[in-house]
Amino acid sequence: THPVVPAIVNLDVPGPVISRHLYGHFAEHLGRCVYGGFYVGEDSDLPNAGGIRLDVVAALRALDIPNLRWPGGCFADEYHWMDGIGPKEQRPSMVNTHWGNVEENNHFGTHEFMELCELLGAEPYISGNVGSGTVREMSDWVEYLTRDGDSPMVRLRRANGRERPWRVRFWGLGNEAWGCGGHMRAEQYAAEARRYGTYCRDHGGNTLYRIAAGANGADYAWTETLMKQLGDLGCAYRPAPFMQALSFHYYTIPGTWQDKGAATVFDTGDHYRTMVQAARVDELITGHSNVMDCYDPGRNVGLVLDEWGTWWNVEPGTNPGFLHQQNTMRDALVASVHFDVFHRHAGRLVMANIAQTVNVLQAMILTDPDTGALVLTPTYHVFEMNKGHQDAASLRVDLPAGTPERAVGDARLATVSMSASRKDGRALFSLSNLDADEPAEVELDLRGGALTEVSARILTAGRLQDHNTPDAPEAVAPRPYEVAATRAGLRVHLPARSFVTVTGRLAG
Ligand code: AHR
Repeated sequence: THPVVPAIVNLDVPGPVISRHLYGHFAEHLGRCVYGGFYVGEDSDLPNAGGIRLDVVAALRALDIPNLRWPGGCFADEYHWMDGIGPKEQRPSMVNTHWGNVEENNHFGTHEFMELCELLGAEPYISGNVGSGTVREMSDWVEYLTRDGDSPMVRLRRANGRERPWRVRFWGLGNEAWGCGGHMRAEQYAAEARRYGTYCRDHGGNTLYRIAAGANGADYAWTETLMKQLGDLGCAYRPAPFMQALSFHYYTIPGTWQDKGAATVFDTGDHYRTMVQAARVDELITGHSNVMDCYDPGRNVGLVLDEWGTWWNVEPGTNPGFLHQQNTMRDALVASVHFDVFHRHAGRLVMANIAQTVNVLQAMILTDPDTGALVLTPTYHVFEMNKGHQDAASLRVDLPAGTPERAVGDARLATVSMSASRKDGRALFSLSNLDADEPAEVELDLRGGALTEVSARILTAGRLQDHNTPDAPEAVAPRPYEVAATRAGLRVHLPARSFVTVTGRLAG
């Protein structure tokens, strides 16, 4: 007999809306994410538009990706945008000192990135250079991108072939200022963010949403300093006009920084340790939210997790600076657990960005450097199966008897994870069974309505280590699934190591 998990969902009590931007992405000039991933150049034999690979675009369009963060990461704080505009053969090159010490020829720059966003139907999220740039440089970049009418930067943009301004909302004020972004103290960074944020102007109808570079993991003191220094304390907290949100970064790493573990070679103990680390994102979002609530109970300042995902040792034989890793059923479960947590925190968490979209860290897409073959990863399928949660009203999932648990060292891991939402007359449920060996049965007690036209899909694998390759591109891929209707709602059988989505039309 399998453990039965009772779950109650009130279909008629919608909670905060799950911003589509929680399904955001991140593309850095790192390894083969941009060059050899998104961008293959106009001379490539692969079908491309201005050098942007069209099958990558087509695959990502199926995810409805809402925004794309660029150009870093650590790279952002050594990127000088003016080197990446104008005729390609005249663009100066530089050394990408963070990632592999390779030469960067700047062929993928501002215009190429904005073109990529247009092809994807995604909003740009530009991460500006605070670490080694200047206030003027960042201010000019905003003017170049967003100003209409006539001005020095507008004339430069027009000379480079773009008449109309672009619309850019999301603007990052540096990246990891406590580390690769300048090794600053929180107070020091806050002072820089005030200055940089001030001169990132709203031009014409374009309104920036400025995101301050936030904490590393559980550094709540960093968040507290930014909240104090970037807002006006008083009877009612007023966020400063130059800061609309702050971020933090959290990666799932069950090993150490020196030896993070292999992406495909691991045992059950490694799997459970990974799941404990993934589920920890709940504690971190709660911690940062609590600090923010003390200052900003009205929730005017957004919390952004603009880097998350698994970080494994690089694949054997690949450049250690390129962060290229495989992606298994275990990674898929890391993603599904994160999304359940994100949905629960929809009231404060306004954006999240998986690191990174193509060929780097927990990627959606892996491309073969020799043949160009493109593979969709198990993580890709979680993003696709969950996309119906974007901009839906969250529905609380109550678990009156808890879920099955496993002891993992000193921690306890809840092995069943769930979330739900409703939108456009439909409900969507996401259910994960993190257990490596044991199935579970979820009894969904649906109150305040009923579901018709129910359908389900499952992502599972014979082994947690299973992954997709050019020879076996569908080793881990979603399949149609059956769930049983009960008097109270639905009964969902969750095989070991599985992710299931169930959707239906709301009736009654
Ligand atoms: O995503 C890889 C790197 O991780 C980013 O460049 C940096 O911000 C973080 O440390």
